[in-house]
Amino acid sequence: MKLYVKTFGCQMNVHDSRRIEEIFRSAGYTMTVDPREADVALINSCTIREKAWHKAISETGRLRKLKRGRRDIIVGIVGCVAQQEGERIFDLIPGVDMVIAPDHYGQLVELVEEVKLREDTLVLTGFDRGRPEDFLTPGPGTSRREATAFVTIMKGCQERCAYCIVPTVRGPERHRPIEDVESEVRGLVASGVVEVTLLGQKVNAYQSGEVGFAELLRRLDSVEGLERLRFTSPHPRHMTPDVTSSFGRLRSLCESIHLPVQSGSSRILSRMGRRYNVEDYLLVVSKLREACPAIGISTDLIVGYPGETNEDFAETLALIDRVGFSGAFSFKYSPRPGTRAASLDDDVPQDEKVRRLDAVHERIENLERRWRGSMVGTKLEVLVTNEGRMPGQVSGRARNSQIVNFVPTDGSTIDDLVGRLVEVEVTAAHSHSLEGKPAIR
Ligand code: SAH
Ligand code: SF4
Ligand code: F3S
Repeated sequence: MKLYVKTFGCQMNVHDSRRIEEIFRSAGYTMTVDPREADVALINSCTIREKAWHKAISETGRLRKLKRGRRDIIVGIVGCVAQQEGERIFDLIPGVDMVIAPDHYGQLVELVEEVKLREDTLVLTGFDRGRPEDFLTPGPGTSRREATAFVTIMKGCQERCAYCIVPTVRGPERHRPIEDVESEVRGLVASGVVEVTLLGQKVNAYQSGEVGFAELLRRLDSVEGLERLRFTSPHPRHMTPDVTSSFGRLRSLCESIHLPVQSGSSRILSRMGRRYNVEDYLLVVSKLREACPAIGISTDLIVGYPGETNEDFAETLALIDRVGFSGAFSFKYSPRPGTRAASLDDDVPQDEKVRRLDAVHERIENLERRWRGSMVGTKLEVLVTNEGRMPGQVSGRARNSQIVNFVPTDGSTIDDLVGRLVEVEVTAAHSHSLEGKPAIR
């Protein structure tokens, strides 16, 4: 039996898809990247913006065509669209057999069997109660030998930013017990993982009994063999001094943070329900830089939010320069059903949204170029994870998140180097990566 999974959306979805694969693998399935070979084909969908939704629909359309020739293939929509649309999906996208929301992945294999027996469609949505087993940790013998891993520490979000559909599709916040997080990290390290990224929609709001996020970081930092610790995505209003001061102090905590700001206008931030203003954000940035001058700060930005004037947008451009972001994901505002912002007048015209997005891209690209350029001639510690783009090259990330490609000079192959930390001298900066050569010690 073969499983095909196509994933859209954020790191939560990417991580969920890996877990889904593990669950099917332990039930005897093998994986395929060709849907024509699959017995079960799942679309792990995202609905954060309208465009993301459309991608899931068009992918399912492709599977539907496939189904005409292969009636036995089971097609499932999982992920955030499954929770958002539920039953309606069968009308919207004919040919789908099952619709399963994220909190039910633990039962996916059984659900596939059930749908086969029933010869009818099946829907399972709604949220679990956050029991430890609901965090979908890897089963015995299923974890792969890899250098990096994600670890979910919280699910859901109840921040309810006015534009955002995540609280609707991922449910209330549930925080994983500290003991479970620690034991998963120890298990991963024992299996060869050297870098862990903690995952959560508001990862730094983590709380387990008395243990808050800064204490969690401190405890994980003491895990022997864990060389690198990262987390995503933190919310600026939970960047308390104990968290900002962890940078530069905790050995494993990498010099890089993705800290979504969304807008450079305090008026728009308030309309977005972000619960901080530009000054608060800048204060967090200065605390981070004080604690760790080399830190790279990247962000998320939304342009064309309802009521965003030229002046508001100019403030966003000014903030970009003032912070000097090392990178950013920027988006045109997209109204999402059921959110508070959906009832506001989406009054920035499409062509103006495009213009603003282009302006943001241009600034960010300039900053990225400068940031990468400043690394030429320096030495960076690279965690090798895969082959590079050019023949003979290997590739990995530096602690500041930059991708670095280099050719090993001692005859080592990618198999020798995966999971190893190599000191690399940067020789050139390209548009999305750095190039270097192993440093002579
Ligand atoms: N939990 C994370 C973000 C999750 S969504 C956080 O709060 O930082 C990822 C990004 O998508 C957001 O940071 C935001 O920039 C963007 N986004 C979310 N809803 C959007 C919408 N309706 N329109 C455009 N962009 C949106
Ligand atoms: Fe959405 Fe805001 Fe929650 Fe992030 S913090 S997931 S933007 S509601
Ligand atoms: Fe998309 Fe769901 Fe993530 S809506 S951004 S996949 S939590």
